[in-house]
Amino acid sequence: MEIIIVKDYKELSKKASNIIASQMILNPRSVLGLATGSTPIGTYKELVRMNKEDIIDFSNIMTFNLDEYHGLDKYNNQSYFYFMENNLFSYVNIDSQNINIPDGKAENIDHECKSYEEKIKNAGGIDLQLLGIGRNGHIGFNEPDVKFEAFTHLVELDEDTIKANSRFFDSIEDVPTKAISMGIKTIMHSKKILLLASGEEKAKTVYDMVYGKITPELPASVLQLHPDVTIIVDEAAGSMIK
Ligand code: F6R
Repeated sequence: MEIIIVKDYKELSKKASNIIASQMILNPRSVLGLATGSTPIGTYKELVRMNKEDIIDFSNIMTFNLDEYHGLDKYNNQSYFYFMENNLFSYVNIDSQNINIPDGKAENIDHECKSYEEKIKNAGGIDLQLLGIGRNGHIGFNEPDVKFEAFTHLVELDEDTIKANSRFFDSIEDVPTKAISMGIKTIMHSKKILLLASGEEKAKTVYDMVYGKITPELPASVLQLHPDVTIIVDEAAGSMIK
């Protein structure tokens, strides 16, 4: 694991976007794994700026998002599809055919999960997977459990996750209780992983991810076993690993 501690969220976003940009420049046909949530918003803003300034080109980039809420239509303004459109896709020259996000409204969830995995495989696998981390150590929506969930699957969200995500909804009752998420194996198959964490509330989780026991009870701890992981944290999130 390479750990980079930067001053603040602004620096974190700059550093992360530079790493993604260099991946895109080195391989303009890169397959990127993307995340939603608060943490990558600044990174996406930087990528939009670099695209506007012709530093990076999305025309041949393919993307796969980590997850989507179950039961939400992609046009619902709480869906992760909507989030990605509003924070990245509609501002860059990506081909909409190259955007992949699980369909939260799929009639046959099993089939949706299997075909998502197939699509990733057919694309040649994920070159660079961007991750955030939940306070409970989840990556994607792989919640603490007794076993690592392997591939893309339907997840029951933890109470802690529902509570944390309720900040985006009118009320906690509106937060979906399930999601479709890439599994730990899907994530671990990515050639490179870039995990971002910001803020004091993530400090203990970051410490446990880096130095703790590798256990499904803290899903992100599995990243200790991946050969190419970069973690960027701001001083607050990195306060316990300094
Ligand atoms: C998002 C995702 C989640 C978030 C995590 C952190 O697609 O899969 O694992 O990365 O919940 O969220 P924030 O960045 O809002 O703290």
